Amino acid sequence: MSSSENQVRIFDTTLRDGEQSPGASMTLEEKLQIAEILDDMGVDIIEAGFPIASNGDFEAVSEIAKHAKNSVIAGLARAIHADIDRCGEAVKHAEKGRIHTFVSTSPIHLKYQMNKTEDQVIDIITDTVTRSRNLIDDVEWSAMDATRTPIDYLCRCVETAIKCGATTINLPDTVGYATPDEYRKMFQDIIERVPNSDKAIFSVHCHDDLGLAVANSLAGVAGGARQVECTINGLGERAGNAALEEIVMAIRTRGDVLPYSCNVDPKFLTRASKLVSAASGFAVQYNKAIVGKNAFAHESGIHQDGMLKNAETYEIMRPEDVGVKATSLVMGKHSGRHAFKDKLKELGFELGDNALQDAFRRFKDLADRKKHVYDEDIEALVENEIAIAGENTRVLSLTVIAGTGGPQKAILTMDVDGRHETREATGDGPVDATFNAIKAIVPHEATLQLYQVHAVTEGTDAQAEVSVRLESGGRIATGKGADTDTLVASARAYVSAMNKLALRQQQGNPGALQAV
Ligand code: KIV
Ligand code: ZN
Repeated sequence: MSSSENQVRIFDTTLRDGEQSPGASMTLEEKLQIAEILDDMGVDIIEAGFPIASNGDFEAVSEIAKHAKNSVIAGLARAIHADIDRCGEAVKHAEKGRIHTFVSTSPIHLKYQMNKTEDQVIDIITDTVTRSRNLIDDVEWSAMDATRTPIDYLCRCVETAIKCGATTINLPDTVGYATPDEYRKMFQDIIERVPNSDKAIFSVHCHDDLGLAVANSLAGVAGGARQVECTINGLGERAGNAALEEIVMAIRTRGDVLPYSCNVDPKFLTRASKLVSAASGFAVQYNKAIVGKNAFAHESGIHQDGMLKNAETYEIMRPEDVGVKATSLVMGKHSGRHAFKDKLKELGFELGDNALQDAFRRFKDLADRKKHVYDEDIEALVENEIAIAGENTRVLSLTVIAGTGGPQKAILTMDVDGRHETREATGDGPVDATFNAIKAIVPHEATLQLYQVHAVTEGTDAQAEVSVRLESGGRIATGKGADTDTLVASARAYVSAMNKLALRQQQGNPGALQAV
């Protein structure tokens, strides 16, 4: 195969399928930051959102399209004229834009979800792909639930889409049902049987319901697909999508059996993972491949002994290849603004003047309270700063009286739209008291679905990183907060989730995608 035949395009859908994950909604600011790093790291196509879903989604896709330097910017559209037109409006700002339109093809979707016959769906494909192609040259068409679609009918659908001008054909394993062999064979059969298959690039899109998303994606590539749809940290509907970092590192590490190449620079993977985790509020599990905290940690004596003699005894990738830096003591309370700015740059963050000012003030505060300040501390602090940028409700100060005596009491001051409000509240434990104080200042109906704490570094003075997930009227939002004081971090995380929920309520909720 020639090198272009070996080239696998990486299509990132963190901002669309990833954001569809319940509770993973992100602000415009966060989406722009994520898109920027994806663009810088060499992702070929960024699916920036679902423009018809809400004004917020439309704005996000348009803004990302305006800012992208290298990547193709795609938007998703159901097989409806209004969706396609709105998507065309949003991606037209990009130097390279794409409309990604889809329709279900499996018998179960046709019967229960769409109430349409096979022939009617063929007509829908003809109509919607043609309409998309009249708006833009780069059109992707997806057969939703392709892996549960009879192959003969799938061939007809694919042939029709290509005839009407689709340049990429995506065959998703929407419900995460396929096995690697089945998925590879589906691509081989389709590419062999569809007469115009040479006129399109084929794409894999796998969900992880059976934990097979990455294996299936690579099998699809072996079957002839040359685009992989994936997300940072494997974020996505239900059990998630194939993890981008795993696809990229599998291709790079196992070139002997996976003879493909891709444009992504793996040195960005760790930063991208942290950014997505901060923005979505979804913590990365410690043992997650490539980007988990333990992915390169060696604990057992035998492993440590081997590592000291030769790292290759137990390490198939070098941590620095994926952008992991050795934990380093960076700065203390005497470090100045200039050194702080340089450190941020080295860690890959460029903040505007106001955000830098705020981050520096919080760094000084941290250095006063914490003996050793590590790179991870600075990253947590800045990610927290990014997460709360633009929020109009913030925690200003918190005092908690806790201990065996009970009841625990919290005295909280918050900035709510520029007004400073203070309330006291008691609760069943200090966290409950803190959350009750927030409710006293900003009354709301949301219920707590998840409360999770983890330490950023080791030691009792480590910063705590807290995730809080709130639900109200079927809408879910997750917020994150970091501080050496677990209760302050908890209050920040709660308020961040509350702000995101309010934003979701204003924007309306795209909800689950409905095929038409
Ligand atoms: O999983 C899926 O089928 C999708 C489509 C919209 C591409 O996400
Ligand atoms: Zn999907």
